[in-house]
Order: sequence, then structure tokens, then C-alpha cells
Amino acid sequence: MLAFGISTLEQYARVARKHRPNGSAISYGLLQIGEDPTAEEIKRFEDISLNFRTSNGTTRMTFRQRLLDVDTTTLELLQQWHPQDAKLVMQDRAASNCLTSAELAEHLFRAFPYATLEASDRLLYVLRISLAGGKAYIIEPEGEPLQYICPPFVVFLNSCTPYRCPFRRLIAARGKREFQQLGLPQRCSEYRVDRISCIHPKAQSLCKRDSRFHICMRSVFECSPGLDVLRTTNILNKAYFPIERLTEGANAAFQSLKPGGLWVVGRTLENQTNHATFFRRTEKNWEVIARIGEGSEIEKLVA
Ligand SMILES: C[S@@+](CC[C@H](N)C(=O)[O-])C[C@H]1O[C@@H](n2cnc3c(N)ncnc32)[C@H](O)[C@@H]1O
Repeated sequence: MLAFGISTLEQYARVARKHRPNGSAISYGLLQIGEDPTAEEIKRFEDISLNFRTSNGTTRMTFRQRLLDVDTTTLELLQQWHPQDAKLVMQDRAASNCLTSAELAEHLFRAFPYATLEASDRLLYVLRISLAGGKAYIIEPEGEPLQYICPPFVVFLNSCTPYRCPFRRLIAARGKREFQQLGLPQRCSEYRVDRISCIHPKAQSLCKRDSRFHICMRSVFECSPGLDVLRTTNILNKAYFPIERLTEGANAAFQSLKPGGLWVVGRTLENQTNHATFFRRTEKNWEVIARIGEGSEIEKLVA
């Protein structure tokens, strides 16, 4: 079954009973979980998020407690700089399913009860376009196709390298060709379209019960002035963007923070260690205040 892919809940459950499913061929449609999800549904959501690749080549990978040491240093710095009643305005960009943002919010609101935290990402949901015979496409809201589900196959339409298996390559090619013929978005009303949230239920629930925590769509390259703290982890990486684009990201951070504001930028390596730099924005420049591990790989580009 793994060679074909996992497109139904039954297939997923059967594989998960034996071992952790290889997310690379799981339909993103299975991210869909109920309002009050069970522990199993949450686990499925987290497993699929781990291997989710978006149309711009970035991954959605994040996981519980991934940024714990980053949170600790952030809080220590903020507590040195601000009184407890400060109305800190913070953003966590490229937050993926916003799980690590919700974890940060718990620590932040305990230390600064009047703070607010916005978690954002360029992708908060995907769409499933269902067709006859159980076929379906999973696409981004802007229309970029991510997966073609042609039972029993699940194939990626945005993979960086073509499939080695000729059969899968053929199905992917057919999927791309037929996708063009769907005539989206103009003929959208002719198909069943389901919106599938990519936000972690823990973040969703915090958002509902605490008005200090907010989730929205936002680009990491956007300027939104007036911030006290900005976090951009596992996004402004040399592997994802060329130098010019990374510089744009750093400029957006500069324009977004107030003078005296804190920018946290860094990356998690495969061995799950974090390497981050904590910059303080001065009137005209950045000042390196602290580091975790070896610091951010774009530190030299910025400072
Ligand atoms: C690897 S995840 C990082 C998650 C989290 N910040 C962490 O460190 O665990 C990268 C995220 O960046 C998002 N992303 C990619 N390009 C983006 C952009 N231009 N603006 C905002 N988010 C973007 C992706 O959708 C993905 O969710």
C-alpha cells in the first residue's frame, strides 16, 4: 500500500497500527479532523504536517517543543528589557500549523499578561477538488496543485525531482495535464470543493478562547510596523531563498520592528538542535544580543 500511497482513513489506520506512516505519500486531505479531535486524529495531523511540502519548495515541518530553548531565551531577554505590564506586540511568521506559536503564547502570556501574539503563515488551508471515481486534487488557495489522488495512487505534483518509478511519473504527468483541463478557478462551481485547515487544533483552540492570540495569513517579506518582537524561524534559510530574497526578509523585519525591538531568526538542524540569533533593532542597525548554538546562518548577511 505504501508504494501506492495513502488516500483513505482506513488505509492510514491500517499502516499506522504497524509503524509510523511514511508521510511522503499520504493525501493531505487526511489533515481534515473534527472540531473536537481525538488523540489519534491529532497524531495523524502532526504526522502529515511533518512531511508537507508547499508549492514554493518550503516544508511545513514543525513539531511539539521544537523551539523550547528559543522561547526561553526570548522570554529572558524580554523580561530584562520590559516591565511585566508591558503591552508587547509580537508576531511569529512562517508559523506553519502554529503549534510552536501556541506553545510560545503560553509562556509569553504568563510573563506578560498584556502582550499579544499573532501567528501567521502564507498557507493556512488547502482545497480538495473532488472528481468522479474517487479522484481528487489537493491545491493551494492560489490554485497551485500539490497532490493528485488517483486511487490507489497518491502522487505529488510539486516534487523537485521527477519520480524514478515510471508508473508514478506517468500518473503525475497525467495529473498535471488533466488539472489544466479542469479550467480552475473559473469552473470552480462545477466541482465539490472542501477547505481543509492546516492549523493545529491546539492553536485553533487557543485562538478561540484567548483574544490575545490571533492567526492570519501573512508573508514573511511583509512590513507591518509597530512590533516589539518578531520571530522568523526555519524560513529565512539559504536552502529556501537566494541572498537577495533573504535580504528582503531582513529588511521587512527591520521595517516591522520598533527601535529597541527584538528579532529572533534561526534554524533547526536535522539533529534537532536550534541555531538562532537574537537581534535588537537600533535606530539604524541591528545589534546581536544573544545566540543559541552557532547563531543564524544569515547573521553575517544582516549584521
Ligand atoms: C519549516 S516551516 C517553519 C515552522 C516554524 N516557524 C518552526 O520553526 O517550526 C516553514 C513555513 O514557512 C511557510 N512559508 C513559506 N514561504 C513563506 C512566505 N513567503 N511567507 C510566510 N510563510 C512562508 C511555509 O508555509 C511553512 O509553513
